[in-house]
Amino acid sequence: MRIDIITIFPEMFEGPFSHSMIKRAQSKGLAEIHIHNLRDFSENKHRKVDDYPFGGGAGMVMMIQPIASCIEKLKSERMYDEIIFMTPDGVLFDQPMANKLSMAANIILMCGHYKGIDERLREHYFTSEISIGSYVLTGGELAAAVVSDAVIRLLPGVLSDETSALSDSFQDNLLSPPVYTRPSDYAGWVVPEVLMSGNDKEIRKWQYEKSVERTKSRRPDLL
Ligand code: ADE
Repeated sequence: MRIDIITIFPEMFEGPFSHSMIKRAQSKGLAEIHIHNLRDFSENKHRKVDDYPFGGGAGMVMMIQPIASCIEKLKSERMYDEIIFMTPDGVLFDQPMANKLSMAANIILMCGHYKGIDERLREHYFTSEISIGSYVLTGGELAAAVVSDAVIRLLPGVLSDETSALSDSFQDNLLSPPVYTRPSDYAGWVVPEVLMSGNDKEIRKWQYEKSVERTKSRRPDLL
């Protein structure tokens, strides 16, 4: 899978993509991430990418030209399954969306900034608009990193135990049950007895009940 990210802060992606599973996915050739500096596409001599909003008001608006030029160049090189705008007024990102995106071959993630981007781009280029939560970030970069991470870890071969993504919280609309490791007694904090019983059926039953209990109390909307 290939992810192209359009941003005015390319450096922001150095951290999130150079560690752990996402790094491994890239070195194994399972995922390719390409970061594009939007300013490189500006035809303005000062590499300007924003301008004042028509009608006035505070904040700047990202202009059509650099974004259109960058998207057009990418589209001329390959077909994209999705061209996505990261924005707080987008559709709320969730596990089913990550699952669906993980089946795409090529996607573009555009990181917004300032007050927003010229609405005509939203009408003509983007196949979807995604928000990672009901709060406003300083830009779409962290949101694009979150979406990329959630999608790339689902690609076959990225996680060492392939079943581990299937048993994630949310894959079956249930939060995961609590987990424990050694020691079984830490200064009097003991592990639930059933987990030490060796009775597989009882253990699965306990885990399912804990999942339901946790989902009911924390995320009743999932049930
Ligand atoms: N840009 C700023 N805030 C955002 C959010 N919550 N989700 C996606 N993109 C954003």
